[in-house]
Amino acid sequence: MDTPIARTWLLGLCGSLRRESYSRAVLDGLAPMLPVGTMLDSHDLRLPLYDEDEDGPATPAPVRAFRETIAACDGLLIVTPEYNHGIPGVLKNALDWASRPYGACVLIGKPALIITTSPGFVGGARAQAQANETLLSCQARIVTGPQVVIGNIAEKIRDGRLVDEPTLRFAAAAIDRLLVACRETHRPDPV
Ligand SMILES: Cc1cc2nc3c(=O)[nH]c(=O)nc-3n(C[C@H](O)[C@H](O)[C@H](O)COP(=O)(O)O)c2cc1C
Repeated sequence: MDTPIARTWLLGLCGSLRRESYSRAVLDGLAPMLPVGTMLDSHDLRLPLYDEDEDGPATPAPVRAFRETIAACDGLLIVTPEYNHGIPGVLKNALDWASRPYGACVLIGKPALIITTSPGFVGGARAQAQANETLLSCQARIVTGPQVVIGNIAEKIRDGRLVDEPTLRFAAAAIDRLLVACRETHRPDPV
């Protein structure tokens, strides 16, 4: 009998909307390296601006779809640049929508790996810290271990993809930890 291949669905969230985004190139460079049975889809973060008056019965359809997609995926792979020493408003806005309803949001317990990028030396380390804080407050299951902060990103991209081998290997090790968290999250509690 063939051994069934476990399917793991990662949802990629890119903190940049820029057409030639380096962060998007990181997602595109990592996709072919994923283990067999792992899928990576991305969700566009062009959502309306968060408005608590619109959150409830009138929640905009794109936001509902976003929340449902997060609920359905096994884990989040967030790749983002740093803007002004923090995460871009686009990503914060999306996480704010995802964080509600309070106490029952789709991020609770959701495995999440954060990768930050920068053309500068520091690799978006400050955005990494801020994304950690936000996801912690949402009770996401943040992947721990060495943080993936990718500096000098412009030199590591070719034809719209991350190609730098040491960086790919380092990020792949973190994705392995994300996949372990995804499996553990689905595993039934021992009796
Ligand atoms: C509004 C703005 C603020 C920025 N602030 C920072 C910063 O604080 N730290 C940093 O390393 N790069 C900063 N940058 C440079 C970005 O890292 C660079 O534009 C990067 O290419 C954006 O990511 P992307 O290629 O994925 O779009 C900033 C860029 C913009 C547009």
